[in-house]
Amino acid sequence: MVRKPLIKRILPPKELVGEIIVPGDKSISHRALILSSLASGNSRVSNLSPGRDCESTMNCLKALGVKIDRQENLTPFVTIHGAGNSGLSEAKNVLNVGNSATTLRLLSGVLATQPFLSILTGDASLRSRPMKRLVEPLRLMGAEIYGRGDDSFAPVVIRGKRLHGITYSLPVPSAQVKSAILLAGLFCQEDTIILELQPSRNHTELLLERMGVKIEQSDACICLIPPAFPLTPVDLYVPGDISSAAYWLVAGAIHPSAKLKIKNCGVNPTRTGILDALLAMGARISQENRRLEGNEPVADLCVESSQLRATEVAGNMVPRLIDEIPLLAIAACLAEGDTVIRDASELRVKESDRITTTVQQLSRLGAAIEELPDGMVIHGGKTLLGTEVNSHFDHRLAMSLAIAGLAAKGETIIHSAQIAEVSYPGFWNEIERIAWH
Ligand code: S3P
Repeated sequence: MVRKPLIKRILPPKELVGEIIVPGDKSISHRALILSSLASGNSRVSNLSPGRDCESTMNCLKALGVKIDRQENLTPFVTIHGAGNSGLSEAKNVLNVGNSATTLRLLSGVLATQPFLSILTGDASLRSRPMKRLVEPLRLMGAEIYGRGDDSFAPVVIRGKRLHGITYSLPVPSAQVKSAILLAGLFCQEDTIILELQPSRNHTELLLERMGVKIEQSDACICLIPPAFPLTPVDLYVPGDISSAAYWLVAGAIHPSAKLKIKNCGVNPTRTGILDALLAMGARISQENRRLEGNEPVADLCVESSQLRATEVAGNMVPRLIDEIPLLAIAACLAEGDTVIRDASELRVKESDRITTTVQQLSRLGAAIEELPDGMVIHGGKTLLGTEVNSHFDHRLAMSLAIAGLAAKGETIIHSAQIAEVSYPGFWNEIERIAWH
């Protein structure tokens, strides 16, 4: 879907203050939609992510015969009429996932088990992202699945059939691939066992358990034990997205006069790497009102202006903050000392090559930052100077550059800012609301 080009201008505000409610978690929203579609009965999901990626998941599920109603009253929610035993039905057209790799990879796991043909594709960015990592394990389960370029890329074609459980060691820490295997495993008669050396986000496992599926977990091993069906429908509140909260956490920490509270934010430990990294840098961040929403931990996060120092990020920490690394690089620009980020070559296959695009765009703002094959080195303590930058049609880079602009001297002009809609449609209004000039 082509949206009108948008240019956003950011001036450093005198103060950053207020309470913020971030949109529902994108990862949990995808899973809630897909798993509820397979449940035996109606599920009700509130605070679903309003971003374009989850809209793509919803549209694909509708094309596969799932009835989804949206209620737009004071507390909006969607009702998903689970297909249960009757399963999904063949889509009449190619399924277009837009920018959303989560939609493509998770849905492929399900569609590999359904007795019909499916073709999935997306936008130019999506079509350049690796799919062999998805095709390989599903094929080991018996799937008939093919991708363009010797199975490397979308479009992906699937002729669904009966699959069997496998034991699979994930070569890259990817929650999307792990989830695709677990979703396919739902339909198998044997156990599905995944070995995951670096833990990635576990929202699929948590939601499956909540819906009555037996999942055994020990150290690096996840085991789905059949029979999985019938899946119990859920009444679910999706917690705020910590990947969206992260913009405000970094904004609050780097701005000299800031006090922000982000309410109802998911703090699942597989996602809180950004909190740990910022705390290690000396950020004044605290949690209030910790509680559970379903199986997911939630809290209000408070942040105030902080004196930051450099940190190191590598190893198991990386999957816990993979989407927040462009933002962390901005915090590092304003911290004392040299920050080193390693073991993050996965960044090269995100919505843009986030190592190159982050280094390029922050260099334009005057940062002293070097590219590494698997990360970057940021020499902190430099003043950022506003100039023209470009999102490269990457939603996280667009919003990260806006946060840099809040602490830069002069005006930062962000091109292709419309892409923020992928995960956070209200972002530009929110930044205007909390910035006091
Ligand atoms: C996601 C997993 C991560 C993450 C992406 C969302 C998910 O991708 O970067 O934004 O919801 O499972 P990978 O699975 O490719 O690591």
